[in-house]
Amino acid sequence: MARKPLIAGNWKMNKGTVAEAESLVSDLLKALPQTDGVAAVDIAICVPFTVLHTVNAALGGASRIALGAQDVFWKSAGAYTGRISAPFLADAGVTYVLVGHSETRGRFGVPEPDFNEAILRHFGDTDAVVNRKIHAALDAGLIPVVCVGETLTERESGSAEAVVRLQVEESLTRVSAEQVAGLVFAYEPVWAIGTGKTCSGEEADRICGVIRSTIHALYSPEVAEAVRIQYGGSMKPDNAADLLSYPNIDGGLIGGASLKAADFAAIVAAAHH
Ligand code: 13P
Repeated sequence: MARKPLIAGNWKMNKGTVAEAESLVSDLLKALPQTDGVAAVDIAICVPFTVLHTVNAALGGASRIALGAQDVFWKSAGAYTGRISAPFLADAGVTYVLVGHSETRGRFGVPEPDFNEAILRHFGDTDAVVNRKIHAALDAGLIPVVCVGETLTERESGSAEAVVRLQVEESLTRVSAEQVAGLVFAYEPVWAIGTGKTCSGEEADRICGVIRSTIHALYSPEVAEAVRIQYGGSMKPDNAADLLSYPNIDGGLIGGASLKAADFAAIVAAAHH
């Protein structure tokens, strides 16, 4: 069964002012074909909370670019200072929400009392937290993009597969087969994010295959065949066509290159082949 690729930009903590966001969306709308006949590729941009409404308005209802958010809290409302709930996101026009991005997961072994960059970057999400966020997103009608991936230390110790398998299993607790078939996974090896180091196509495909076989074992071959699995980590115009040519890779989650309209459009174009 053919899966439609999803190319999603993750702006991270960039372009969060109205002027910056409007400018990038305007460039994207010019750079991306608004119709490609069969709309063979799904496109999304995951933007900062502050500009969700801005970007939604700038995209307009007819755009083929879907709106995404970068995180969600699992409660729907209440005394949770600073948090954003899934119903809020749905109301803002969001379709996709990143869950468990490595920059929101745990601190990768950094000693607790050290107030340093690693602690500032990572919000301590565990697999159980990721699971709650997935349920909250699904309950609000959003599509979670569940990010998994190993650190360099885990890769070097030979545990990449086991780490990813466990992340997938734990994040899917009490998620039904029907729900899983509709969600998206993103394999993002932490060592390849923002470093310029790309995972080879063969290796990315192999680990995406591990994600798929884990879902197969938990659910069924049909569910495993239906779920879309992206690769993310230094995907650029010059390596996208290769990465996207592998059978288990159903799209890309793009950080740095999503901030340049021409680069993002080139990656979308690469997904058409
Ligand atoms: P880069 O494309 O900048 O490596 O970021 C990948 C990423 O983390 C997307 O979520």
